Amino acid sequence: MTELLILSRSDLEKVLTMKEVIEAVETAFKGLALGEVVMPMPYIIDVPKHNGVWGVKSALINTQDVVGVKLSSGYFENPSKYNLPSITGVVVVADSKHGIPLAVMDASIITAYRTGAVAGVAARYLARKDSEKAAIFGAGVQGRTQLLALAEVLRLETVNVYDVVQASAEKFASEMSAKTGIEVRISKSVEEALRDVDVVSTATPSRTPYIRLEMLSKGVHITTVGSDHKGKQELENRIYDAAKVVVDKREVALEKDYLKPHHIYAELGEVVAGIKPGRTSSEEITIMDSSGLGIQDAAAGLAAYSLAKKKKIGTVVEFF
Ligand SMILES: NC(=O)c1ccc[n+]([C@@H]2O[C@H](COP(=O)([O-])OP(=O)(O)OC[C@H]3O[C@@H](n4cnc5c(N)ncnc54)[C@H](O)[C@@H]3O)[C@@H](O)[C@H]2O)c1
Repeated sequence: MTELLILSRSDLEKVLTMKEVIEAVETAFKGLALGEVVMPMPYIIDVPKHNGVWGVKSALINTQDVVGVKLSSGYFENPSKYNLPSITGVVVVADSKHGIPLAVMDASIITAYRTGAVAGVAARYLARKDSEKAAIFGAGVQGRTQLLALAEVLRLETVNVYDVVQASAEKFASEMSAKTGIEVRISKSVEEALRDVDVVSTATPSRTPYIRLEMLSKGVHITTVGSDHKGKQELENRIYDAAKVVVDKREVALEKDYLKPHHIYAELGEVVAGIKPGRTSSEEITIMDSSGLGIQDAAAGLAAYSLAKKKKIGTVVEFF
């Protein structure tokens, strides 16, 4: 009998830790730089009729004999209009040695953790080691895991949170300060949130840049996850001219209008693999521009599958 493991959202919440996903994602980025990974370009199915979008991301990680494919949606009116999440979907993890599916799991938790993990890996190589103050823009699902990941790799003392919806920032502050033990302060403006901070994560679906160069402190590190594809932008163009910009994958990043080849210093995997140095001065502004890659889904999906098997969590179905 061949078994297929089904992992629901609550199963994943029981098995995944940010620490393990950061390790898995860091290894996957290194593998990407070293040519151990096959990753087709992601593709998008637009659903303008319902103001939504579907994305398909996939990768083969040869060193681990695993294929991961994610089908996930982005419907950003869902929370306010229908009390439904903005992002849902499934991740399939399969054994690439025999070509057999191993697990099907909720994509929203995998996405949140693997997207947070990029901020963690990037902060490890690009933020100043003495970073203590963070700012999070967008008090939604990704904003939460951005903070979890930053707290995992840095010794944070305070976090400013800014959201266009004040009630969301308030909920974030009470929930995340209890979860992390870090003081979370609600900011009333973008400027206030950025004042004297060392690390920033932007996790909003904004189509209009809202962070300007003058608002940034010297030596700040910023991870942008909200502007994950064409049409979205959170930092103004001048910031990309002034900063050291690291992307997850050149071809994917260059689909965005605000990034040109001359802006891109390195891919994250090149920095992790030591092919290019990360931060080299305490004064430079560094940016990790994340689009979200199939390797992150495959690596986080495999980590979830392995941990769930070990902890005997999930529903096993007879596949064939
Ligand atoms: N790079 C990646 O790998 C990746 C992965 C997942 C999601 N994303 C992107 O991240 C963004 C956030 O996703 P989410 O799942 O957290 O959504 P969400 O709906 O849970 O949260 C988004 C939050 O941003 C707030 N917001 C919107 N515009 C804002 C603005 N201009 N300034 C401040 N706050 C603002 C909203 O009020 C909301 O609280 C989306 O653009 C999504 O597509 C990227």
